[in-house]
Order: sequence, then C-alpha cells, then structure tokens
Amino acid sequence: MESDKGTVCVTGGTGYLATWTITRLLEQGYSVRATVRPDPDGKRDISFLMNLAKGLQSLQIFRADLDDPESFAPAIEGCVGVFHMAATIDFHGREPENVLTERAVRGVVGILKACSSAGTVRRVVYTLSSAAVHGNAAGAETMDEGFWTDVKMVRGLKTAEGPYMVSKTLAEKAVLDSGARMGLDVVVVVPSFMIGPFLCPKLPASIGIALAMVLGDANPYKNMCLSKTSVVHPDDVARAHIYLFEHPPAKGRFICSSGVITLEETAELLSQRFPELPVPSPSTLKEIRGYSMPRLSSKKLLDAGFKFKHGLEDMIDGAIRSCKENGYV
Ligand SMILES: NC(=O)c1ccc[n+]([C@@H]2O[C@H](COP(=O)([O-])OP(=O)(O)OC[C@H]3O[C@@H](n4cnc5c(N)ncnc54)[C@H](OP(=O)(O)O)[C@@H]3O)[C@@H](O)[C@H]2O)c1
Repeated sequence: MESDKGTVCVTGGTGYLATWTITRLLEQGYSVRATVRPDPDGKRDISFLMNLAKGLQSLQIFRADLDDPESFAPAIEGCVGVFHMAATIDFHGREPENVLTERAVRGVVGILKACSSAGTVRRVVYTLSSAAVHGNAAGAETMDEGFWTDVKMVRGLKTAEGPYMVSKTLAEKAVLDSGARMGLDVVVVVPSFMIGPFLCPKLPASIGIALAMVLGDANPYKNMCLSKTSVVHPDDVARAHIYLFEHPPAKGRFICSSGVITLEETAELLSQRFPELPVPSPSTLKEIRGYSMPRLSSKKLLDAGFKFKHGLEDMIDGAIRSCKENGYV
C-alpha cells in the first residue's frame, strides 16, 4: 500500500468496473467514497463491497441516485478526483430512449455541478462506452477517438440497444460541454466490451452476452449478436482510469481496448480451457450472422504510456472462474 493520495469518489460502486476500480484505488493508497443507490428498507447486501477494503477504514459508502443528481454532492465534497461510472446498462431496450438519456445527462451534469462547487476536484474521469463511438463505423476497419455515433442513424435502425447507444452519446456531449463551461478538467475513457473476473455478485451484462453460449440462454444472441468484437479486461480498464487521472497531459477521449475476438474463437478458447462446459461447435456458430464491430484502436492510450496487462486467455479464464464461484455455470 502506497501513502495516502487523497480522497476520490467512485459512482456506481456496486458495478463490475467500479469494484475493480475501487480495489485498485485502495491498493494504490487512495481513500475511496463509493456511491451506492439508496436502499430505504436496508435489504441489500453490500458486504462484498466493504470486503474490497480488507478491513481498512479507507472505503466509505454514500447513497446517491442518478435520478436525483444533487444526491451525489455529499460524496464529492472535498474529493480530489471523481470516477463517474454509474449508468443504466440496457442492451434490451427496457426503458425508452428519452428516459435513459435524461437520467444519464441530468446525472452527469449534477455530478459536474457538485465537482465545481466542491472546488477540490482536480479531474473527473468519465466512463463512456464504444456505443458512443461505433454507431457510424460502417465500412471502417479500425475506429479511433475521432469516431462518433450518429444519433439520427441509430434512431433510424430501431435496434434494442439503440436507446443505450443514444444515451451514452448524448451524455458524452453533455459532459464535454458542461465540463468546459464549468472550467473542469474532464477525461473520458471508452472501454470496449469488458470480459474478465467479477468482484460483484451480479452477472455483468457484458459477460452475459459474450459468454451466452455457455450460460444457458436458449437463444443467446437474439438481442445483441457480436460475431466479432473488441474486448478488454476490467482490471486493465480500472488501471487505465487511474493512469489517466494521474497523467496531467491527458486530454479528451481515450479508447481502452486490448483485443478482438470472434464467436468461433470464444468457443475454441472455452472448449480448450473448460472441456467440461457444453460449448457449441464452431460450425453452428458460423451460421450466426451477427454484428462485426471494427477494431477499436487504443493507440492514443498506449502513446500516453499506458500498458495493458491481460490477454484473451485471462479474460475468458477469469470470467468463467467468477461464473463458477457465483453459480452461473
Ligand atoms: N461492461 C462493459 O462491457 C462496458 C463496456 C463499455 C463501457 N461500459 C461502461 O462502464 C460503466 C460501468 O459499467 P459496468 O459494466 O460496470 O456496469 P454495471 O455493473 O451495471 O454497473 C453500473 C453501476 O451503475 C449503478 N446504477 C445504475 N442505475 C443507477 C442510478 N439510477 N443511479 C445510480 N447508480 C446507478 C448500478 O447500481 P446497481 O448495482 O444498484 O444497479 C451499478 O453500480 C458504464 O458507464 C458502462 O456504460 C461498460
């Protein structure tokens, strides 16, 4: 453990990425305030979150909800940094676009206002998604930070994940506009699909999709079929957030993605490493015609000096290990 580096706030503390980020921040000597949604009946077990601190006093829980943007202010007061990763992950179109977007935009603007009032926040690191990048990438082989999802085009496609893509894109525009107006230093991290072990008990949505072939879904790819996708380990994404917080010259968006995998390659890795799992044959998977995402380029992040630690085997092994520990396979 390094010496005290100050207090930072991580929003959406119960999430897949947040639990990794909190763990790495604590290890690196930060005091962490994690925001968790209000639980008026006190029924939710968040002991897994407190366990991340391994008995240290440096993790505090605050209650806050994106639907009540002012609720984040107490957690942000006095912090040197804010990692905003709370979001509704909805690849299935459960809520309409305007509800998702209003929550994301009002939430992030409320958080920025709290940062501005606090007067102590050196940098806000905002977690975006490739959903705000790849919506206009038809025909491209590689996407970098210059790509922006075309909201009009996504609306026209009327896909289940469209509202999520639009909400992320409009929230990024709001964070950049409001951040600049308020004179705040905001850096945006754009992870690709996260696959790897999870420290929270809930099955992360990205693993549910990427490993649907062994998670028992009868029609695994009906909602969102990624036949070829850019992927990254959540530990690398957490470390990239901290790296960019501590790297003063960082500006703008940074894609964080370390590899590309197809459905057939996923099946091959799964059957080699976990022969006990009922992995479908590569020939069945070849028949699935899914969305093939252009490769996301992390050149800007690598040029800034960041190094990835995890490869595809780590991602798949870790994800399956956590699925086994939590009874998902
Ligand atoms: N997973 C991926 O592959 C991936 C890829 C690219 C980008 N991202 C982005 O990374 C961030 C974290 O994703 P994740 O995979 O870690 O998702 P996650 O596990 O679903 O975590 C999301 C967190 O946000 C919280 N949250 C949801 N609605 C909220 C609300 N109304 N008010 C306050 N908190 C709320 C959740 O709380 P509850 O536990 O109470 O629901 C949870 O703690 C998101 O911004 C996501 O868009 C994820």
